Amino acid sequence: MRSVKIAVFASGRGSNYEAIYEAIQAKRLDATVVAVVCDKPEAQVIQTAMAHGIKVLSIVPNTYTNKKAYEQAILTFLHEQQVEFIVLAGYMRLIGETLLQAFPRRIVNIHPSLLPYFKGKDAIGQAIVANAKVTGVTVHYVDEGMDTGEIIAQEGLMLNPTWNRETIERYVHRIEHQLYPETLQKIFRKLGKIG
Ligand code: GAR
Repeated sequence: MRSVKIAVFASGRGSNYEAIYEAIQAKRLDATVVAVVCDKPEAQVIQTAMAHGIKVLSIVPNTYTNKKAYEQAILTFLHEQQVEFIVLAGYMRLIGETLLQAFPRRIVNIHPSLLPYFKGKDAIGQAIVANAKVTGVTVHYVDEGMDTGEIIAQEGLMLNPTWNRETIERYVHRIEHQLYPETLQKIFRKLGKIG
């Protein structure tokens, strides 16, 4: 199958970026990471991606006059790298219309809850505060809303009341690192058939 050229957007550690990169190396995912976009200059993901020899755009939003200008700069970079598909992996920022219009149904996100529950920031913290018995992970298409796009895949996690936040995060990440590459592979297979 043809390898889809993807850009991974991240703001933090980048463990999901790494899981995707490893799935590609292991030939479980027919894609090539041609770019990483990061809005936090101190984020760990920048070092990791550079060590992999990936082109990284480290970009600071508040150095642009508005969101449109910020996303236009990203778009220029993505076009230079011939990006076909955007994978959000812990990118803590709403995608605006400039990128949405340039990549219709070509942007996906992973979120650490069973959407529509616990949308937005700190979904794991929200689950803890709500005393939830179950949470999980969702992969969804990105639209103009906050974690509102069409759901593609979900996996639940029963919460043991003795678990602390760190333990929950570890289990959530374990699910994410498997679910995201698997789901991307399914999406890319379908894309390949459509052409
Ligand atoms: C992941 O758990 C991801 O689901 C979450 O950020 C974490 C990033 O971890 N994303 C969101 O909360 C988006 N609303 P990572 O940097 O180690 O991949």
